[in-house]
Order: sequence, then structure tokens, then C-alpha cells
Amino acid sequence: MLDLLVTNATLPDGRTGLSVAVQDGRIAEVAAGLQAPALETVDAGGHLLTPPFCDPHFHMDATLSYGLPRVNESGTLLEGIALWGELKPQLKAQDMIDRALAYCDWAVARGLLAVRSHVDTSDPSLLPVEAMLEVRRRVAGYLDLQLVAFPQDGVLRTRTGVQSLQKALDLGVDIVGGIPHFERTMAEGAASVKLLCELAAERGKLVDMHCDETDDPLSRHIETLAFETQRLGLQGRVNGSHCTSMHSMDNYYVSKLLPLIAESGVSVVANPLINITLQGRHDSYPKRRGMTRVPELMAAGVNVAFGHDCVMDPWYGMGSGDMLEVAHMGLHVAQMTSQKGIRACFDAVTTNAAKVMHLAGYGLAPGCDASFVLLQARDPVEAIRLRAARLKVWRKGRLLAETPEPATRLHLPQRPPAVSFMRPR
Ligand code: FE2
Repeated sequence: MLDLLVTNATLPDGRTGLSVAVQDGRIAEVAAGLQAPALETVDAGGHLLTPPFCDPHFHMDATLSYGLPRVNESGTLLEGIALWGELKPQLKAQDMIDRALAYCDWAVARGLLAVRSHVDTSDPSLLPVEAMLEVRRRVAGYLDLQLVAFPQDGVLRTRTGVQSLQKALDLGVDIVGGIPHFERTMAEGAASVKLLCELAAERGKLVDMHCDETDDPLSRHIETLAFETQRLGLQGRVNGSHCTSMHSMDNYYVSKLLPLIAESGVSVVANPLINITLQGRHDSYPKRRGMTRVPELMAAGVNVAFGHDCVMDPWYGMGSGDMLEVAHMGLHVAQMTSQKGIRACFDAVTTNAAKVMHLAGYGLAPGCDASFVLLQARDPVEAIRLRAARLKVWRKGRLLAETPEPATRLHLPQRPPAVSFMRPR
């Protein structure tokens, strides 16, 4: 007797009429038309069944703090950092924990079951670190939360930066972060990349740095990150987040840089909602979009994923934990409007993101965790277009969230009573 059988599902790769059999929290079998006795059988009705959404770049310690102590009036990254600096001395661990747990509820409801969060290690008290470690413990049963030691104020720019970051790792933070473009000089930025990669190599940790989150085309820390990755044998273990300066770089230089990144196995996470709002703020017109070169990186063989980065915090007042909204913005900003491009944007918030995060047991193949989301859509393109309702969310075979199919009733003469926004069959 199976624990769960989902029948008549469409998978992201386009296969239809599939059944997914679940036993002991894992996928036992995926086959067309499979019928077998199960404790529960769910008819997917031809809807899309996808592995869960993953957010490879977020700031859980700042989330839902929008308006505290005031709103970011200029909308710039630098005012956001200054505002976060004003808020930090007022932060209380319990408030941070409560806000983060509320966000995790939103995430689960949206089928977002894995989040990599950068945690500010700048203050020697490490209050955000203690709070987020507590959140990681509390959500462990339903959400994979990875923590990155993130020296927001600069690991070399702050007197105790290196020490605090080391202590955060000692306390159990998973990944080494950095912010080279915010160090005092380009040289210090490059030195921070070297130092942090060496630290990660020594400790056997992954690396995920905010890298070149600027419109300055001469911010080239991604080059150093790729070089250090190769030098230290960290291929496949390093991620560059944002890399927005690539948007503004000289094309000739980028033609040399792309193969270097691909060769080093460094992955890249773009954050479309945040890049399109924070970048180009010093421009008049034309205004640069600022997001990194997503299709070009993908074409070069680099694993590229999309992150949410912020939800209602000093940098961004919007968002609700919906990775389909992130993918939707990503395809617009990158002009990835072909069918192939849209599907690549869906991958950027699912499989590519899972790869960045080194998630074990991810996918819809036999042996994978029985973690998946049933969407009110027929395929990934429609899922993004509609930011489709997450009808059911399972993790390791357990139902975590349900949303009834939204249905709008029409009151129009000689028209059907209900309207569906899915494309006609
Ligand atoms: Fe970030």
C-alpha cells in the first residue's frame, strides 16, 4: 500500500498523464497511468506538478521590517544599507524570529520549500545570527533554511569583520558570504574575496558572495571570485550573487569573462525584482536595467538561478514569497520571452536554484524526496504567466499547504458563469 498516489499530472518537462507514487517520504515510481492502492489518491486533473520552488538568495533577518524605523525614500541600495544600519541597534531577537517565521509560513503556502538566507554578521553581538539559527531549528521540519555569514558592512571595512564572520561559522552558519564591492577600495574588495575563499576552503564550506552589486562597469570582483575558485579547487561550490556590474561592462571584456566563469564552475544568482528597482538609480535617461547578463551566462554554460532577495525590508517594500513573481520579472528584464527563455526562467527558480543550493533528493524522479507542488496551470509557461495558485504543497510526502482553486464568477448576459484564465485546450 502506497502512502500517496498523485495521478494525471503534467510534469515540467512536458510529459502528461503521469502518476507519482510515494512511499516513506520518497518517490517510489513515476509512470503513465499507474494505478495502485494508496492511503490517499489525488487526481491532479492534468495540472502541472513541479518540484518545489527554491530561493537561493534572501535576507531572512530583515524581512517584514518595512517601515522600521522609516521608509527608504530614495529607493537606493545605499540608503537601504544606511537604513538597515539605523534599524540594527533597535532589533530584538524575538521580533526578528517572529517576522522570519511569518515569512516562512508565506513561503510554504507559495510552495517555496528551500531558502538560502544571508545573515548580517557585522555586529559583534551576532544577534541576527542567533535569531536565524533559532528560526532554522524551528522550521527544520518543513523548510530547508540555509544560512550565509554575510558581512553587510564589509568584512575588511569593519574592524571586527573577520572575527565576527568566523564566530558565525563556529555557531553553525553554513556558508561563507562577502560583499567585495562595499569594501573601501577595489584592492580591498579583491583581498576580501581571496581571504573569504581561503577561509571556505580551510573549513570545507560553500561560498556565496554578494558580488559587484553596482552599476560600475569596473567592479570586476567576479573575475577574482572565479580565479580564486579555481586556484583553491572550489569548482561547483561557489556562487556569485547579483553580479549586476556585468550589465554595464564593456562587451569585449565580458567575452573573456564569460568562459572564465563557466570554467571555474561558479554559479550566478540574479535577483530580478531587486536589480530592476535598485540599479540604474544614478542614471537619468536612458536608465540601465542593471540585471546581470542572464541569457548570455546560461548560453556560456553557467548555472544561473533567480532569487527573491528582499520582501518588505529596507530595500524593497513589495513581495510575498512568490518565486513565480520573481521568474515573471526575470523574463521581462532579461527579455527571455521565447518559449525556451520562459522555461529557462522557470528552471531558474526550481532546478537551477536547487543546484546552487546543493539540495539533496531534489526532483521528480524515483528515489527523490516526495516534495512537490501542484499548480493551477498546464505548463511552466502558464504557471509564470498566471503566477498560478499553488493548489497543494507536499514535502517528503506530507501535505503542508492547500489553496482552493480561485474561480471568478461572471455576471454577464449569455456568458458562462465562471471564467478560467488558463489557455483553452
Ligand atoms: Fe542580497
